Amino acid sequence: MTASFFDETGVRISPSLMCADQANLAGEVANLEAIGADMIHLDIMDAHFAPNMPMGLGALSDLRDRTSLPFDVHLMVEDNDWFISQLAEIGVQYVAVHAESARHLDRTLGLIRDIGAEAGVALNPATPLDILEHVLGRLDFVMLMTVNPGFGGQSLIEGVFPKMERIRKRIDQLGLDTLIEVDGGVKTHNAHQFTAAGAHALVSGSGVFGAEDRVAAIAALKAS
Ligand code: DX5
Ligand code: ZN
Repeated sequence: MTASFFDETGVRISPSLMCADQANLAGEVANLEAIGADMIHLDIMDAHFAPNMPMGLGALSDLRDRTSLPFDVHLMVEDNDWFISQLAEIGVQYVAVHAESARHLDRTLGLIRDIGAEAGVALNPATPLDILEHVLGRLDFVMLMTVNPGFGGQSLIEGVFPKMERIRKRIDQLGLDTLIEVDGGVKTHNAHQFTAAGAHALVSGSGVFGAEDRVAAIAALKAS
């Protein structure tokens, strides 16, 4: 397993497992590894912060030894710190928490580091970038949501592109190597817009699992 999913050139593809067949997660994970996914995006929700609960920590734990792909965990929960403590036992590589639910964001980022994972902050489409200003130097990655959290298959909110440009510029101004992951509505036909705007990693749920040919979908996303 690499120290960082962002340390190689090229955009990284992180299929969102909540859009897979939930009755066959082990098979889906094995398939993703076989067809060239770079990591697996795991959406953990508590039905409070986001109005859904697609998969739980038990599934995550059981899936961990079914693949060598890094786990890219996206927490959409109210109690971030409790969920992070549970992830410690499972062994995950990347954890993003939502700034909107983090009461003590700086401390929470420290907890992610303490469990040996890289730390990210996710922002909802309507959340201003300013909230990142005083933690940017401590972040491994920023996760920009391009849909409202909760469901796969939603349409992309276009306002994310100027937002990406602004955060890219700020990261460069500060001389940081913080990386950008985008989540929501990413498909083969629009992926180039994200990479052109500076994304290093693309989450895609329905874009991969809803594709007629998954192999071709992942290859096209990677080539974007
Ligand atoms: C939504 C999740 C996303 C979602 C992506 O709350 O965070 O990861 O599964 O699905 P698509 O790519 O279909 O928008
Ligand atoms: Zn997600």
